[in-house]
Amino acid sequence: KLPSHVTLVEVGPRDGLQNEAQPVDTATKVELVHRLQAAGLKEIEATSFVSPKWVPQMADGAAVMAALERRSGVRYSVLTPNLKGWEAAAPTRPDEIVVFGAASEAFSQRNINCSIAESIERFAPVVAAARAAGVKVRGAISCAVGCPYEGDVAPERVELVARLMAGIGVQHVGVADTIGVGTPRKVQAALEAALRHFPLAEVSGHFHDTYGMALANVYASLELGITTFDASVSGLGGCPYAKGATGNVATEDVVYLLHGLGIATGIDLDALIDAGAFIRARLGQPNGSRVARALLAK
Ligand code: HMG
Ligand code: MG
Repeated sequence: KLPSHVTLVEVGPRDGLQNEAQPVDTATKVELVHRLQAAGLKEIEATSFVSPKWVPQMADGAAVMAALERRSGVRYSVLTPNLKGWEAAAPTRPDEIVVFGAASEAFSQRNINCSIAESIERFAPVVAAARAAGVKVRGAISCAVGCPYEGDVAPERVELVARLMAGIGVQHVGVADTIGVGTPRKVQAALEAALRHFPLAEVSGHFHDTYGMALANVYASLELGITTFDASVSGLGGCPYAKGATGNVATEDVVYLLHGLGIATGIDLDALIDAGAFIRARLGQPNGSRVARALLAK
């Protein structure tokens, strides 16, 4: 039996826009968030507090957070890879922070410039500070099924990182198929590895659609009882440290799948499609959501 309600974490403003080569102004980022919350998204990953040398697009994180007109009942999260990131993020009052590690050593080095073990040491004081401030902490486990540098990643690697994250007080883990190579059984094995250390409600799926497998992987996750997924409006994005990675699965496509299965999301699909059309028009790009393309063509 599939779950009756699913929570979608909209990551377009962060995972989506971080990969855009053209500068996107702060006002556009803020308007995107406003449109997403108006569409009924209750969890929005708004920005990152990372090195502007590494990811210039996220350099205005504090300005984005300051300009948001927050809605009650909406949770705003931000990425914080280290204490410097947390110290910059804390005054902007995020509801949740995300520390991001990887199941592959090579990806950890390329993405955050340290080993998996070092990353956990860096995250520990961030997690402690956030929790002391009453801020929830999510951990992302990148390359949970495959790595652009190391190839296949075994579930044992995910299990290890989930255990280490649980050990430092991370409250939720996102199992991320960064390069979208996963297929349903492999993704289930990765999720099951994380589920050895976190309860069902605290494990989410983060799927990129590079190989067109993302919706199949969402369905496979639902079969395990997973009720939280990251998704990116109009399929925005990719990852700057994973060459060829396309965007996350489009939020519109996941909503269409879930509503078709009779699973509630609280999201208004038409308003969501408008939000995606807005940002793609600003970027001068075609819409990456098949559902949006089909419904906009009607
Ligand atoms: P580093 O160079 O090892 O850090 O970078 P450092 O501590 O040696 O500092 C070097 C310089 O960076 C210093 O500045 C610091 O002040 C500055 P300088 O003295 O040279 O002028 N610095 C910072 N500035 C602003 N904010 C900070 C910060 N930290 C240091 N927080 C670091 C380490 C992690 C910072 C760097 O590697 C980085 O920023 N990487 C970016 C990683 C990133 O944003 N990746 C994309 C997000 S993850 C993702 O997309 C995957 C996910 O979606 C799941 C999936 O799909 O897999 C979550
Ligand atoms: Mg991602």
